[in-house]
This record gives sequence, C-alpha cells and structure tokens, in this order.
Amino acid sequence: MTNAPADLIKEGTTNLFVYKKKTTVKGPSIRDENPFYNPSMELNRDISILVNQWLLNNSMKHVHILDGLAASGIRGVRLAHELSGDFTVTINDWNEQSFSLIQQNIQKNSLQNISVLQRDLNTLLSERRYHSIDIDPFGSPVYFFDAAVRSVYNKGILACTATDTAALCGVFPHVCYRRYAAWPLHNPAMHEIGLRILLGCLCREAAKYDRGIEPLLCYTTDHYIRLYVQVNNGKKAADSSMSQWSSIQARDVPLSQENTTQVGPLWLGKLQKKTVLQEIRTIASIKVLNTKHLLWKLFFLLEEEADAPPFFYTTNDLSSLLKLSPPTMEHIFDRLRSKGFIVTRTHCTSTGFKTNAPLDVITEVFK
Ligand SMILES: C[S@@+](CC[C@H](N)C(=O)[O-])C[C@H]1O[C@@H](n2cnc3c(N)ncnc32)[C@H](O)[C@@H]1O
Repeated sequence: MTNAPADLIKEGTTNLFVYKKKTTVKGPSIRDENPFYNPSMELNRDISILVNQWLLNNSMKHVHILDGLAASGIRGVRLAHELSGDFTVTINDWNEQSFSLIQQNIQKNSLQNISVLQRDLNTLLSERRYHSIDIDPFGSPVYFFDAAVRSVYNKGILACTATDTAALCGVFPHVCYRRYAAWPLHNPAMHEIGLRILLGCLCREAAKYDRGIEPLLCYTTDHYIRLYVQVNNGKKAADSSMSQWSSIQARDVPLSQENTTQVGPLWLGKLQKKTVLQEIRTIASIKVLNTKHLLWKLFFLLEEEADAPPFFYTTNDLSSLLKLSPPTMEHIFDRLRSKGFIVTRTHCTSTGFKTNAPLDVITEVFK
C-alpha cells in the first residue's frame, strides 16, 4: 500500500476505508498497487446485500457467506454489517495489502460475525463449503467455476461478475471460445448473448457434478455481466439445466447480418426468477441503499422481461434495416399486443424490445 491514508467512504450504512483514485470513472477494472475499489460498482454491491438478505429470509439454518475476491473487503464487510439473520461472513483475498485493509474495515465497524483469510480462492473452495459464494474478479470468473460449483451447498447461491465483455460480446470471438467454449455474436443483442454464454458455461460446469442451476437474478451493463444462480443437487436438476443449454445459428438472433454462423452453446432458459425478484424488491424498500433510483429501474425491467423470449430488436437497427423512421415504443407495443403477441422492454438497452412476433408482423407494425 502507498503511505497515503485511505479515504473514508460510506456505502449503504457501512463506513469503510478504501483507496479512491484511477477508478472513479465507469469502465473496466484498473489495477494499481493499492487494494482495488471501484465506486461505480456500488449498485452491484447493493444487489449483493439484497440477494443475500433474500437467502437469509428463506433459510432455516445458519448461513455461511464467502466474499471470495474481496480487495478492500467492501462487499463482505457490508454484508456482515447490513444483513440481519443467523449468518457469518468469510472475506478472502490473497493480496497482503488487501488482508490488512480488510482487518481495518472490520475493526472500524466492530464486527464479530466475520473472519478474514489470505488464500488462493480455488484452494479455499476445494477445502470448504459455503451457502453463498461471491466471485468478483478482474476479468473473467471462469477460472473459479469448477471449484465454486463443488463448494456451494445444495440450494446455495453462486454470484459472479464478468468484466471480460469484449470476449463475451464478440469483439474477440476466439478469446470467448477459448475461455467459455462458446461462440459469441457481435450484434445488437451481444450483451444478452454474452450473459447467456456465461450462464451456459456455469450450467455445464455444475452438470458434471450432477448439479443444476436456476438463475435468480442476472443482468448486464455496458462494462460487466452479473449472475446470481441457485445451485441444486441431483441428476434431475442437472438434466433439466442441460436441456436449456444449446447452440443456435446467427439467423435465430433478431437483426443478425450473418446466417449459419454458430452462436454458443449458451443458456436459452430464463434469466430471472420472477417471484424472487418481487421478494427482493420488497427487501429493497426497507434497506438503506444509495442506488435505489437505479435499482427500481433495473428491477422493473428485469421483472417485465422475466418471461419474455430470448433476444430483442432495437428500434434503431430496425429503422436502418427497413429504411423507415422509427415509430414510438408505445405504438409498437400497442400494435403488437393488439395482434396477440408478447412484447416487453429489456434492461439491455432503452431502444430494445422483446417479442414473439415474426419479422413480417414487426415490419408491418413499423410502417
Ligand atoms: C476486482 S477485485 C475485487 C473487488 C471487490 N469484490 C469489490 O467489490 O470492490 C479482485 C480481487 O481478487 C483478488 N484475487 C485475484 N485472484 C485471486 C485468487 N486466485 N485468490 C484470491 N484472491 C484473488 C485480487 O487481489 C483483487 O483484490
């Protein structure tokens, strides 16, 4: 660590020492000598509080939570301080500077229900089991998938962030193939495709051990993808998950310029569990969180699209394709609904909509 004093900040109801600088703008993770801290990930951490509170509310037993890649410890310390219920938190980071900053943050909040480790996460996951595991790396979480799906208890939650969006969204397709054994597609729906590739990869890793995944809350932003999935034991659960994992052709994705190019394999099932989202929204209404305005917006969109088919159209891309100026979203929604089709917005882009209507009907509505 530099000799410069750490900055005292507050997220949720927790006061923490972190090292600001270089990461105060939105964008991918930047490494420096001090433990990493990215203020633009506050929404990401606020959702961790909500999902873990949901787990505690729905658990009859003591819950053991792991913040596996902790940096300043901000996520794990917040969990220990802001959750209520019968639980303990373990915070881990193999970096020495992180280890000492995490201890300062625990002291600052006078926490008892918490312990700190300085271990390699894969080794730790091979030795111990947890009910909730958070993996928040620089780049891809894939290196930890195998150990994490073995470590998490039945019905436990596995959460991860991926910031390697350039690979998952098709800027570097060979990197995506190498990491996830899946082909991405660089088209308007690339973020949703990247999210589904990541989920598909996790599904495959879990199935090896006769375990299935159930996505609870999954979303994507411009610079990261975030998953919360429940892991369930049994061949039936594994088979049911694997039935949602498949390759498609580019022409199956709306507005793709390509045709027979393979996309995936990727997860084609649901990305959200609507009942869980609704319960999480209720929890959000009673927690103190700084990003509530963003949370509401995101949760409403996730709930709206929870039962919609995969992928979406965007009005801009449809306009260029059809050489027509776009009608309002309201017009598109009214017309498609009056014809009996499903149509919803998507959290991926404000100009996007999901529908089961075929392109000729959409074209007619557009005119
Ligand atoms: C992006 S930062 C974590 C950010 C943090 N979760 C937050 O919310 O601010 C990733 C951290 O993972 C740690 N790390 C990377 N590989 C690791 C490994 N194999 N075992 C343990 N820690 C690791 C790094 O030292 C770094 O502090």
